[in-house]
Amino acid sequence: MNRCIGVLDSGIGGLTVVKELQKQLPGEDILYFGDNKNCPYGNRSGEDILALTMNMLEFMKQNNVKAVAIACNTISTLIDYYKDKFDFSIIDITKPTIDYIINMNIYDIAILGTEFTIKTGKYEKLLHEKNPNIRVINEGSKLLAGLIDSGKFDSPETREVVKSHIDNLMKKGNADNLVLACTHFPIIEDVFLDISPQLNIINPAFQQAKAISEYLSSNNLLNDKKEGELDIYTSGDTKIYSNVIERLNLKNVNSIKNSP
Ligand code: SIN
Repeated sequence: MNRCIGVLDSGIGGLTVVKELQKQLPGEDILYFGDNKNCPYGNRSGEDILALTMNMLEFMKQNNVKAVAIACNTISTLIDYYKDKFDFSIIDITKPTIDYIINMNIYDIAILGTEFTIKTGKYEKLLHEKNPNIRVINEGSKLLAGLIDSGKFDSPETREVVKSHIDNLMKKGNADNLVLACTHFPIIEDVFLDISPQLNIINPAFQQAKAISEYLSSNNLLNDKKEGELDIYTSGDTKIYSNVIERLNLKNVNSIKNSP
């Protein structure tokens, strides 16, 4: 079905999900909304995050999307509050990641997210519901999403913050597997690996794109185009998008515009 897939995020981070969608579903048109003006969401209250999210979902509804990917871990922790309010399916980023960790029989896991995501305890709770024996260590970051959203991908400050989070996690429990539980973080996966090459990094974007692919295919909603296009809307500055598009090697960008 030739309607587009909506992808929303607090800023540029959700483009890591777009990258995976373009690989797994090359024929799909994608409508992206990044709320850069209000980023980072992870330092905001739940009420604030919900109100901002409802605006983005209304935008998706007006654009007649066939499904929406919540490509933001912070917003995904609140999915129960908005998932039934629209007539399109809303697929969060947390659940497919939990299923992957369980299916891969991973027993020790470090989770680095925003302060909000970690405070909700959502990842830990969902993992322990499926396997109470998994050892989970957590760390919330106040700074990292904002640094990345402002384009500081490899600055000394960004490297220092990444290093201090990895050091803290290792002090808490020395896990081999690290979930980048904020969609901004995989944009600088190279920095994480440079600082800690021994870590097995789990990027939830891949699993979320797979969940969307399965949903579309089982509901006969796949697009029959050869090559899909990407339209980007942002509430903030459009300039940062060219950088990320190049860094992630995104394809067929049709437009980058300010949101209405
Ligand atoms: C943020 O806006 O704080 C980061 C987005 C995320 O949690 O994935």
